[in-house]
Amino acid sequence: MMSLEISKAAHHCRGIAHNKLKANMGLTPVHFFSHGSTMMLGEKSESADYWRRTGEEALAHNIKGVIIMGAHWDCLGDKIEVATNPNPDKSPVAYVQPDKYINYKLNPDLETAQRCIDMLTKEGFNASGNPTFDWIHDVYLILIHMFPNGCPPTTIISMNARYDPHYHMKVGATLRPLRSENYLLIGTGGAVHNLYRNRWAPMLRFRDNFAMETPPEEWALEFRQAVEDVITKTSGPALRRAMTRLMKHPQYRDAHATDDHFMAAMFVAGAIGDFEDTGSPAVMGAESWELTNMCNSQFSLGSWSRDISV
Ligand SMILES: [Fe+2]
Repeated sequence: MMSLEISKAAHHCRGIAHNKLKANMGLTPVHFFSHGSTMMLGEKSESADYWRRTGEEALAHNIKGVIIMGAHWDCLGDKIEVATNPNPDKSPVAYVQPDKYINYKLNPDLETAQRCIDMLTKEGFNASGNPTFDWIHDVYLILIHMFPNGCPPTTIISMNARYDPHYHMKVGATLRPLRSENYLLIGTGGAVHNLYRNRWAPMLRFRDNFAMETPPEEWALEFRQAVEDVITKTSGPALRRAMTRLMKHPQYRDAHATDDHFMAAMFVAGAIGDFEDTGSPAVMGAESWELTNMCNSQFSLGSWSRDISV
């Protein structure tokens, strides 16, 4: 009798797992990447290796394009913009050899940009295109590492400068359906990113951004752990609740002196925090500490479930 009940329960659990798998079929994973300092563009790191692997995986699954929210572009008032510059330049970066990025050809996806504007407008956002925006290293640093042999069609979504976590979560939720069309959604910001608390001396004196003369401070370790716990231990609407709640964490303001590098995490929670995403796996694929107190954790939420179609 007991074993029959266990067997029924096991069958029921398998049924739930199967339904979850079915629900997630065809939905691309979503990445939350911490781009760190500009030196992450030119230096080798575990994070850079991971970005490369995720890029290879995305290309192997024949992605239609990348849709990305960064940490360096925000709009005033109630506005949000989508990059529509057909020939964007790159904003220059310090502490990087120019040959690491100047010749990389950017590939703006104007058609998808218009679709994103339409989807956001329909949802009530004051969204419009920006035909003069030049791309910034938060975005192209990641693209160059992920796709060194060529940039896939890419759409950049701005932030809103009020830095409302729920607003940015809703931006992700609005664009979430594009995951079912094989677009790769990425948020590029930072897990622990407080420029005022970094130890800059080894970078400024020796170009050594990975120097760790002391261990990271306790607030940085504490908040870094909270981010990992939220992303890897919650999913679906619980992920959305927990991610937005992180901005009320006691160490949040130590970890983020400004909110800009945490908005992309809200975008990610929106993009993969629907009821249908409940049970999605999430991993921390790599992590690089820089400048003593900046924690560049790299997360992938969801997984590739469709067969490789290249
Ligand atoms: Fe940044």
